[in-house]
Amino acid sequence: MLENKVAIITGGSEGIGFGIASALASKGTRVYLVARTQEKLEKAKEKITQQSGKAEIRSADITNIETIKEIVEGVYHDNGRLDIFVNNARAWKGQSLNTPFADIWRLIEFDMRAPYELTHYLVNRFKNEKENTLRILTVASQATLQVMDNGLRFC
Ligand SMILES: NC(=O)c1ccc[n+]([C@@H]2O[C@H](COP(=O)([O-])OP(=O)(O)OC[C@H]3O[C@@H](n4cnc5c(N)ncnc54)[C@H](OP(=O)(O)O)[C@@H]3O)[C@@H](O)[C@H]2O)c1
Repeated sequence: MLENKVAIITGGSEGIGFGIASALASKGTRVYLVARTQEKLEKAKEKITQQSGKAEIRSADITNIETIKEIVEGVYHDNGRLDIFVNNARAWKGQSLNTPFADIWRLIEFDMRAPYELTHYLVNRFKNEKENTLRILTVASQATLQVMDNGLRFC
């Protein structure tokens, strides 16, 4: 069922994103890993290809949504399909209360907005394609949970 599918995973070079990417690759999906650090991307690709998976890497910062859209277009152009998009990377890094509130709010706002913006773009971009197989998986940002728990990290 996942064989010969194509997936993009933001934050795919480590952690939850890498876990999802390697699981998909083990089932025969070609995975595109998106993250900022080239070195980490190359290591992640190596691990997946060593296990006979198909992995490609794209270096980008998810805070630049237009760049992510360009990656989506490129992947679709190269493969003629996009089956899975995993919204995983976020800007929130467990900022401490030493961080000015305006900066904290900017990150929370981005983490809330980005998955909606990308989903809105993806749904409208692919809804009229002849064979639209796209499924979107969004990993909830820790920022939301930390705010609800009043769990901003104390220094
Ligand atoms: N809901 C929950 O309970 C819960 C718990 C834990 C995590 N999470 C969420 O799950 C997601 C992944 O968490 P994780 O613990 O697996 O994180 P992680 O181990 O720190 O991995 C983060 C990944 O995202 C990439 N990344 C970080 N900032 C990026 C940016 N601005 N642009 C592009 N890529 C970026 C990192 O690579 P580079 O640094 O090279 O870019 C890396 O590949 C996050 O959204 C986190 O908030 C949720």
